[in-house]
Amino acid sequence: MLELSDIDAFYGNSRALQGINLMVGSGEFISVLGRNGVGKTTLMRSILGLMDRVTGRLSLDGADISALRTHQRAKAGIAYVPQGRGILPRFTVRENLTLGTFAARSANGIEDWVLELFPVLKEFLNRYGGNLSGGQQQQLAIARALLAQPKVILLDEPTEGIQPNIVEQIEDVIVKLNREHKITVVLVEQNVAFARRASHRFALLEKGRVVAKGEIGELTDDLIQLHMAV
Ligand SMILES: Nc1ncnc2c1ncn2[C@@H]1O[C@H](COP(=O)(O)OP(=O)(O)OP(=O)(O)O)[C@@H](O)[C@H]1O
Ligand SMILES: [Mg+2]
Repeated sequence: MLELSDIDAFYGNSRALQGINLMVGSGEFISVLGRNGVGKTTLMRSILGLMDRVTGRLSLDGADISALRTHQRAKAGIAYVPQGRGILPRFTVRENLTLGTFAARSANGIEDWVLELFPVLKEFLNRYGGNLSGGQQQQLAIARALLAQPKVILLDEPTEGIQPNIVEQIEDVIVKLNREHKITVVLVEQNVAFARRASHRFALLEKGRVVAKGEIGELTDDLIQLHMAV
């Protein structure tokens, strides 16, 4: 279980998150929703330990991880697929994937089940990351995160700016990771239809605060109109 208690996060003196309380059960799928600039990415970065300053308590399976460095959080079982993918363009697909394995708790190499989720990566192992399409780069970013053997995967707008024919493929894999591989998923999403189809629970952010949360069935059109319409 991932638990955030009274989390505040800062860029310099500016407070981007205020008093975030969120509990994500093991095996659960939660979607974090909200307009541009409300703090969704900041929340992901706070969980990973990538912010300069975060206060409050963060725990994973009962252990306080607030003081751990990012690589230690990765080893503890939290993987991150950043907004914009963050793959290394001058590294091959194989090299990008190998980077993911470094964060794994046990030596694993590039596991077959991950390549089987994304056959195109298997085909392009020797291509440079930068020569893949946007959708293929996103698949690479997800595969790299999985090779770290995570308990929890954080996905920040994984289908943003991706060709529609690949979007569905990526969405199906994300659902499969949760339902079949029992990986806990924290998904940042603007696509409400996908959040509804995939999640068990949701949290809606506004100006760095959680303004609504609950079972996904409680995510009404009124809430979406109020907190997501532009
Ligand atoms: N590096 C930074 N330095 C200072 N302020 C920042 C920085 N990054 C983000 N912010 C501010 O923090 C707030 C939250 O930004 P964040 O990127 O977390 O939003 P978001 O919900 O992920 O938005 P989007 O949907 O556009 O990705 C915004 O007001 C933003 O301007
Ligand atoms: Mg963002």
